Amino acid sequence: MGSANHLDFLLYGAFPYIAMVLLLVVTIQRYRQRAYTYSTLSSQFLENRQHFWGSVPFHYGILFVLLGHFVAFLVPRSILWWNSHPARLYILEITALIGGLLSLIGFVSLVLRRGSNNRLRAVTTPSDWILSVMLLVQIATGLGVAVFYGWGSSWFASTLAPYLWSLVKLNPDVAAVVPMPWLVKAHILGAFALVAFFPFTRLVHILVIPNMYLWRRTQVVRWYGTNQGRVEHRKRSAQDQQQR
Ligand code: HEM
Repeated sequence: MGSANHLDFLLYGAFPYIAMVLLLVVTIQRYRQRAYTYSTLSSQFLENRQHFWGSVPFHYGILFVLLGHFVAFLVPRSILWWNSHPARLYILEITALIGGLLSLIGFVSLVLRRGSNNRLRAVTTPSDWILSVMLLVQIATGLGVAVFYGWGSSWFASTLAPYLWSLVKLNPDVAAVVPMPWLVKAHILGAFALVAFFPFTRLVHILVIPNMYLWRRTQVVRWYGTNQGRVEHRKRSAQDQQQR
């Protein structure tokens, strides 16, 4: 375990398992008890234009970046082989950076949209706001790591992929994480915090892909939030109707 202290072991050796157990247990329990809550609770029909320009870059950007993380975790040697030519290393790093920037711009736009529209604020829960902050921090720390600690795709493959595999093999080896800069540590911790929080949020919609959104008839989504939220929402809808 090298020079890891108790806190390091707790954060990078034990917390990942707590997060995974929470993810598994709560996800299954929530599906059994409230399967109908497995939805994005889309607010697209309340406001469509800004939604499109936020949601599309965010989803394409983050899916691309996470796919990159996954490949570097699964086949780290292929990434090191690819990066052995400087031109290919630049291509990978720049493409990943573009993916990260797209996801940041898209997500900031989605958060601003929620904050600036009364109807959207009325249907936004505290869990949505917490999730937004966590995702923003995660994307920002990821971009920070990419910008300040160059060639992350290579040292991820050679140092962090083995750490992640040690977790999978139930033999956590946190020695690789301990000497890392605080930004990298914050990024790793943020990832496991997101895993732990995942089953309590609307992110569970990811698990029902492929889903019927693409071909089923449109459906009306109702929120059963706070009473004040409902009153506010009705007031806004009535005002909108009068203006038409
Ligand atoms: C919820 C999970 C995660 C999200 C949403 C996320 C997001 C991001 C984003 C947006 C970037 C910037 C894009 C780039 O230029 O590569 C990034 C980079 C990075 N992430 Fe993550 N990340 C997650 C999990 C992790 C984990 C678990 C690790 C390591 C154990 C990790 C290590 C890194 C590293 C080393 C970079 C820099 C890559 C480079 O310079 O090319 N990430 N991440």
